[in-house]
Amino acid sequence: MQLSRRHFLSAGAAVSALAMAGCQSSALPHTSQMPAQSGPLALNFNENSLGLPPASMKALQQALPQAFRYPDAARSELMQALAEYLGLQTEQLIYGNGSSEVLKMSLDAMATSNAQLVMPDPTFGVIEDYALARGMKVVKVPLNAALQTDIAAMQAAVTGHNGKSVVYLCNPNNPTGLLLPGGELRQWLGQASDKLEFIIDEAYAEYVQQPEFESAITQVKAGNPHVAVARTFSKIYALAGLRVGYGIAETSMLNRMTAQASIDNANIAGCVAAKAALQDKDWLALSIKNNQQSLALVMETLNALGLEALPCNANFIFHRINSDTSEYQQRMADAGILVGRQFNHTNGWNRLSLGRPDEMVRFCKMLIRFRQQGWV
Ligand SMILES: Cc1ncc(COP(=O)(O)O)c(C=O)c1O
Repeated sequence: MQLSRRHFLSAGAAVSALAMAGCQSSALPHTSQMPAQSGPLALNFNENSLGLPPASMKALQQALPQAFRYPDAARSELMQALAEYLGLQTEQLIYGNGSSEVLKMSLDAMATSNAQLVMPDPTFGVIEDYALARGMKVVKVPLNAALQTDIAAMQAAVTGHNGKSVVYLCNPNNPTGLLLPGGELRQWLGQASDKLEFIIDEAYAEYVQQPEFESAITQVKAGNPHVAVARTFSKIYALAGLRVGYGIAETSMLNRMTAQASIDNANIAGCVAAKAALQDKDWLALSIKNNQQSLALVMETLNALGLEALPCNANFIFHRINSDTSEYQQRMADAGILVGRQFNHTNGWNRLSLGRPDEMVRFCKMLIRFRQQGWV
């Protein structure tokens, strides 16, 4: 392939940016639990690559001999710890086998025979599958030109429906990482009613550094009975494989969700690990520092290569790749790096999970090679 001078120049600038960033990487955070690298580099599922929090590992080791018992006590202790942490009552919290299950029980609690689901597109998509399995009408509202959730267009979809609407919103949104506008969101949630209920997915809330971020937990605390919030231990708390999520809702909504939950959906391992992670005072700061260092590395390279990226409010970044996303994903996989997949309406962009800085250096070097090939 004929390479343009632009390709060589920008790739050269990226290499030096990476070298400089690499110099700073001696101060990278480390945990004793960092997993050994085997197989392809996984930058595709937005996991926390720091590995299990050390406190969770210890709690797991201590608790496993008790795993012949049912998990009631371990689940109660976790829910109590969560209630204290969030300033809520345990009656406002429900355990989920991952937040995916919280999304399902929320939808099942809110859906009625004439209800439609209104959701942005693209977003985290499992709720669509749940709705379709129920035979529910699904309206997918494309993001606006700036790739932001188009609240006005979603509101129009609600108004145009002669029946109940269940609205799913993801804040920050996956795959863009963009926040919902706080004022607009607050206003809309304030209009919630028996005919308009909301599921707010805050899987990445703990990563958000922007002061303007407004968690919908505030709505629950204010007594709004038509809002369910889903959160997870799979992301910043690094427990994706243990399946711990939780729902937050005003008690009447929570009771409706409980009626839809499967019995004994918790497990001892997940409960003790989550409680320990929650009480590990250093974990969040360490993970945020790791994320920021990785983001800085990636941004230096993207900037040097002239590849636009959206503002990052999570542990992933959505950036341009100047080529077909599926082809790019396949080429990265062939090179041993798994990156995000193709999403609707956003061909030419890719979602990249932010792993550890050493992992991102590997990714950046590969991206520079892709530029040298003329692939990005
Ligand atoms: C926005 C969002 N919500 C929910 C989930 C599901 O997480 P889990 O079921 O592991 O809690 C994910 C996972 O990637 C996600 O990105």
